[in-house]
Amino acid sequence: MPAFPSVRPRRLRATPALRDLVRETLLHPDDFVWPLFISEKISARQPVSSMPGVAQLTVEEAAAEAAAARAEGVRAVLLFGIPAAKDEHASGAYADDGVVQRAVRAIKRAAPDLVVITDVCLCEYTSHGHCGVVEREAGGHARILNDQSVDLLVRAAVSHARAGADVVAPSDMMDGRVGAIRAALDHAGFADTVILSYAAKFASSFYGPFREAAEGAPQFGDRRTYQMDSANAEEALREVALDLAEGADLVMVKPGLAYLDILRRVKERFQRPTAVYHVSGEYSMLKAAAAQGWLDERATTLEIMTAFRRAGADLIVTYAARDVIRWLREI
Ligand code: PBG
Repeated sequence: MPAFPSVRPRRLRATPALRDLVRETLLHPDDFVWPLFISEKISARQPVSSMPGVAQLTVEEAAAEAAAARAEGVRAVLLFGIPAAKDEHASGAYADDGVVQRAVRAIKRAAPDLVVITDVCLCEYTSHGHCGVVEREAGGHARILNDQSVDLLVRAAVSHARAGADVVAPSDMMDGRVGAIRAALDHAGFADTVILSYAAKFASSFYGPFREAAEGAPQFGDRRTYQMDSANAEEALREVALDLAEGADLVMVKPGLAYLDILRRVKERFQRPTAVYHVSGEYSMLKAAAAQGWLDERATTLEIMTAFRRAGADLIVTYAARDVIRWLREI
């Protein structure tokens, strides 16, 4: 006999109906963002070996996939581009006929009410794979120049808006880029273009598979002079505060699973629409374990998505978005 016979939490777990009735956190298809990789270098879909179920697509394939996903209930896509040629100044990132710009136009034609979000960064477009402009110093050192990088990011964001992007999402972690992008968008007549800032983005090993998918691995060094140290939570809050002050409409925490504490604190402190990025490594771990039969892919994925919502995420960016939306419909 329990010490307090009338206190029995299990009462509310007794049947599926009771559990449904008292469930605190629900997943809804409207809250997922599906990332797409669009390559100028291919003539047909190219599977990404480290991310089962993910492929690089041509512009035409991306438009078709986006329309199909929209029909299944996907509300938003996030676009990454792989240009035919890279250079020191990432010129493909802000070319009006660049791969992302063309993909935005094609997707908007194929699925006009799909929310099109573009990743604004330079790493897929620079020959060295860094997210900014590199200055090489004597002795082999290299520095990432902040303000010169911001100038190029601004050009990329405006060209995405001109192509028809609803939301631009700077993921580079340079200082001051949100304010600069906001001012430039307003000046160019895009006052309604939304900024989703990768505000708290950590230097993470979980991005490994993405670098195969987006062909944007740094050719030397790492990203630790611009992405955050995974040990720092206070700093993440300062970064989010700055991006909001500069005009970010939505803020993102990235990666997800290993940073749920950050997500919770960002949501509680700022009470703004907050996104989380379930990144490539998190996705690939799940896929690998599921392929071995060690984890139930569907149950585990839904558990993780629920954890994101419970921790405070309003939006979830995940390569599993299409699967999740299908599973939610089946429940
Ligand atoms: C571009 C960018 C990266 C990711 C999103 N935007 C790679 C990086 O910062 O190295 C990672 C996404 C993922 O791992 O799924 N800077």
